[in-house]
Amino acid sequence: MASQAQIAVIPGDGVGPEVIGVAASLMTQAASAQSCDIEITEFGWGSEHYRIHGRAMPQDAADILRRFNGILFGALGSPSLPDHEVVGSLIELRKQLDLGANIRPVNRWPGIATPFVDGLDADFVVVRENTEGEYSGVGGRTRITGVGDVAMAVAVHSETTIASLARFAFLHARHRRGQLTLVSKANAIHHAFSLWEEVVGKVAAQFPDVTYEICLVDAAAARMIQRPGSFDVLLTSNLFGDVLSEIGSTFQGGLGMAASANIPTDGSTPGLFEPIHGSAPDIAGLGIANPVGAILSAAMLLDHIDQPGAAADLRTATRAAATSESTRTTDLGGTATTQQFGQAVAELLKNPLAFGSNEA
Ligand code: IPM
Ligand code: MG
Repeated sequence: MASQAQIAVIPGDGVGPEVIGVAASLMTQAASAQSCDIEITEFGWGSEHYRIHGRAMPQDAADILRRFNGILFGALGSPSLPDHEVVGSLIELRKQLDLGANIRPVNRWPGIATPFVDGLDADFVVVRENTEGEYSGVGGRTRITGVGDVAMAVAVHSETTIASLARFAFLHARHRRGQLTLVSKANAIHHAFSLWEEVVGKVAAQFPDVTYEICLVDAAAARMIQRPGSFDVLLTSNLFGDVLSEIGSTFQGGLGMAASANIPTDGSTPGLFEPIHGSAPDIAGLGIANPVGAILSAAMLLDHIDQPGAAADLRTATRAAATSESTRTTDLGGTATTQQFGQAVAELLKNPLAFGSNEA
């Protein structure tokens, strides 16, 4: 059925425009093959905007973005500008758009080199709390005579946020292998994580079909390396999710491969989709950045706008191009540029058998 979607694209800084250029064009191509017409509106927010206006995004950025069906986002940050202000605007946006869940899938694709032995499979998803926790921004710096500077950063954990995120994560688990691990630290950070355990435990009782367990974050980090296959859905706080999902990306072949979806748990605002890597100033402008994380984020956006067929096609083509030695980028041991990789995926979308691989 013919359909139409309005998508906001924020390429951002560094490698952001390079990978998002490729991802946005492939997303449009995959959707159009399914009779979905994607109309893109691009916003030049980020470091340049900060240099001119003193902020990386306009004050009403969230209001502007609410009009769209989805947002494709690159990366923010420049070495010469304060990260907490430029990159901080992404954290603000997650809060303003109420993007309570940050979904970070981890899949190990055979044929892609990782630090792990062959056969150690990983197929899990980190569901990270996305608007509060250790990222609340509450706190400050003070100076106490004789002690020096004192910094206070208050982590905020609220029952309603945890409960709606937990419901979202259990529903997700139900559609996967039916297993959910709450990553906690109630033994040491008692106030916060005893609340998590209490609230998530109540939600777990409503999902008897999902196997539920609690794992402390330090143990979870080691288990992720040793027995990644023992995880299905990991539900956790903002900072723990940031760290665990970056460990997770090593199973995928590195940071360039990892995608994420920032989703409103109540469906009221558009989702924001971004690779989990940053602006990578060291390789920006060289045209060699791996766009897989950005493309897979665009595939998650296609799912979000009810285009699962286009999303599956895009994933299949991306996987085929990334696992083939002749088309992969240099971080994966290949020779392809960002653009060449994009062209390979575009060809595969037109003709899935072109590379002799049709893996999902
Ligand atoms: C991520 C990033 C961000 C985060 C930074 C850029 C603020 O590391 O999306 O994982 O910490 O959430
Ligand atoms: Mg991170």
